[in-house]
Amino acid sequence: MIDYKKDFPLLVKGEWVYLNSAAQTLVPIPVLEAMNDYYTNIGANVHRGVDSLGYEATRLYDAAREKVAKLVGAKNKGKIIFTRGTTSAINLVAGSYGHNINKDDEIIISVSEHHSNFVPYQQLAKKQQAKLVFVELDENGCITPQNLKKAITEKTKMVVVSHMTNVLGSINDIQALAKIAHNAGAVIAVDGAQGIVHIPTQVEDWDIDFYCLGAHKMLGPTGIGAMYAKNEMFDKMQQVEMGGDMVDIVEEQETSYLDAPQGFEAGTPMIAEAIGWGRAIDYFLDIGYQKANERVGFLRKIMIDRMEKEVKDIIIYNKNNEHAPMVTFNIKGIHSHDCASVLDKHKVCVRAGHHCAQLIHKWMGTQSSVRASLMYYNDESDIDRMVEALKDVKDFINVLF
Ligand SMILES: Cc1ncc(COP(=O)(O)O)c(C=O)c1O
Repeated sequence: MIDYKKDFPLLVKGEWVYLNSAAQTLVPIPVLEAMNDYYTNIGANVHRGVDSLGYEATRLYDAAREKVAKLVGAKNKGKIIFTRGTTSAINLVAGSYGHNINKDDEIIISVSEHHSNFVPYQQLAKKQQAKLVFVELDENGCITPQNLKKAITEKTKMVVVSHMTNVLGSINDIQALAKIAHNAGAVIAVDGAQGIVHIPTQVEDWDIDFYCLGAHKMLGPTGIGAMYAKNEMFDKMQQVEMGGDMVDIVEEQETSYLDAPQGFEAGTPMIAEAIGWGRAIDYFLDIGYQKANERVGFLRKIMIDRMEKEVKDIIIYNKNNEHAPMVTFNIKGIHSHDCASVLDKHKVCVRAGHHCAQLIHKWMGTQSSVRASLMYYNDESDIDRMVEALKDVKDFINVLF
C-alpha cells in the first residue's frame, strides 16, 4: 500500500485525523518547497521591468496558468484569469458579465449552492431587476436535465450550477446542462470548487461558458483561484478591478485595457500562490483522478458501513451519492457542533454547521450537519478513529447535560 501521508507534515505527526478536505486540503511538501523556492531564490514581481529575476517570476507565473488551463481542459477556446479564490472568481463572473442581464430576465439557480455561488447572483438579480428562478432538485440534490428543461424559458439568460455540491456531494452533468442552457440562448456559469477535485474536467469539450475553481481544496495554497471563461465571453465582460498591470494606454481622460487574461488581473498578483498551485496540480495529476477516486470511494464505503453498524441514531444524508467524497450526517438529538466538538477532543477534524449552504439544509430538513470529507491521503485508521470517537458522542453530551 502506498503511503500517501508521507508528504503531509500534519499527517506524518499522526496526532490528528483530518477529515475536512472538502473545506481545505492539506498541502504536500513539494508545494511548500515550490513557494519557498520562489521567495528564497527569485522574489521579484511579474510583468514589470526587464530584469532576469522578474522574467523568471513571470515565466513561472504564466506556466502555472498553463497548468490550470490544462487541468480544466482549456486549450484554445478560453482563458484563465487568476483570482483570490473560488469566491472571488464567482464574483468576477457576476460583476463583470452581470450587466448583460436585463430587467425581467431570468437567472436559474438552485438551493443546493454554496453561499459563494448563490449570494453574488441573488444580488445581481436584485440590481438588474431580474428574476431568480429555482430549478427543482432530484432526491439526491442533483439538477437533472429534465428539471432544468422544466425551469428554462425564453427569458432565461443565465444558468448557475455547481459541478459538485459541497454538502451532499451531488454531481451535476454540466455538459448536458450546458446544452440545454445554450439551446435557450442562456450562458452557463459553473462553480467547480468541489468538482475539479474529483471529476476530470473538459470545459471546452463540454462547452462551458464560465468555470470557477480554487487551489486550496486540491493540495494548493490558500489565496488563489481562477475563473475560466470562453473567449467570446470576454467581449461582453467589463473590468471590475482596475489599476496597474492590466492597462494598455493611459491618457488623461481615457484608458484602454490589455486583453484577457492580464486585462482582468489588476495589481500585483498572487505569484507564490500561483507557483504553488501549479506544483500542486502536477503533484495531484501524478497520482491521478482514477487512483485518488478509487481510494476515496473505498474509504467512503467503509465509513458509511461502520457508521451505520456501530453508531447509534446516525442519520446519513447523502448515502446514495456514491461518488461523493464526503459523508454528511447527524446523530439524532445532538447538535452538529456538539458532535464535532467531541470529535475534536479525540483529535478528529470534521466540518460542522451549515457549511455556507443554509438553503440546502432547509431542503434536507435540518439546520446543520456534520461533514466528514475524504481525500486520497486518508486511510482506514482514520475511519477507525472517527467511528470510535462518534461512539463517544452521546455519552459525552449526556454527562454534560
Ligand atoms: C461548492 C463551493 N463553492 C464555493 C466555495 C468557496 O470557495 P472559497 O472559500 O475557496 O472561495 C466552496 C468552499 O467551500 C465550495 O465548497
